[in-house]
Amino acid sequence: MLELDDISRHFGGVKAVDHLTLQVRRGEILGLIGPNGSGKSTTVNLIAGLFKPTAGTLRFDGHDIAALPPHRRAELGIARTFQNIRLFSQLTVWQNLWAARVVRESGWAGFKARWLAGAGAARDEAEQLLEFSGLAARRDQLAGNLAFGEQRRLELARAAASGASLLLLDEPAAGMNAQEIDELDARIRSLRDQGRTILLIEHHMELVMGVCDRVAVLNFGRKIAEGTPAQVQDDAQVRAAYLGADDGDELMNAALAA
Ligand SMILES: Nc1ncnc2c1ncn2[C@@H]1O[C@H](COP(=O)(O)OP(=O)(O)OP(=O)(O)O)[C@@H](O)[C@H]1O
Ligand SMILES: [Mg+2]
Repeated sequence: MLELDDISRHFGGVKAVDHLTLQVRRGEILGLIGPNGSGKSTTVNLIAGLFKPTAGTLRFDGHDIAALPPHRRAELGIARTFQNIRLFSQLTVWQNLWAARVVRESGWAGFKARWLAGAGAARDEAEQLLEFSGLAARRDQLAGNLAFGEQRRLELARAAASGASLLLLDEPAAGMNAQEIDELDARIRSLRDQGRTILLIEHHMELVMGVCDRVAVLNFGRKIAEGTPAQVQDDAQVRAAYLGADDGDELMNAALAA
């Protein structure tokens, strides 16, 4: 579905992503892990279109997308969440979902009329996503007033409301407690069961190893391992990358050392 072929993105002397070749297969949950600063978010930004690659090719559903702006990639079916949550904080929970659903029809052209019309199948679908997010009771609250975990849930539901076939999730479990992470695990599976493909960036190893079909590992912008969760966990280079990383990520180290 998505193919990164020899993709690089350098910032001055920093090789944030360095000759990365990676395939995301339709219908899978692919984990992308690596120590802090290893290039995970840069990879998401390259796929979503916030950054252009310094070199390499990028294909999505047969389209060469490397030169396309973010909104064109969104129209093709790529949606993402942000490591630092980005919602319309002055809109309500419902309005955030509805905006994503309405914009999907035909972009911003005629947005207001479609926003106001608000009936029919599109509305039913947005209602279902509100249920899915577990935020039905918060429907009319401003997104900016939600608790942190709730904002992450809304961001995930909003990405789904865009109708995207590929969801890029950048650390969706960050700041969540154990129960919230269990719920997130179930939501990610449910999105996959609805036919979505998911690229999951995460530091929370239990979630990654439990939910992902395959996992790829970055270190200093390069892919150092790829395989099933078990294969990756057993990989000597992966262990060295994490245990040698001075990033204070004790959770990760503990999970890998276990
Ligand atoms: N816009 C930018 N300008 C300059 N350098 C950048 C930029 N974005 C990222 N970098 C650098 O690229 C490298 C990779 O960063 P990136 O954010 O992709 O890492 P990450 O794997 O997502 O890390 P984390 O786990 O901390 O989120 C880092 O050295 C970072 O400082
Ligand atoms: Mg990141």
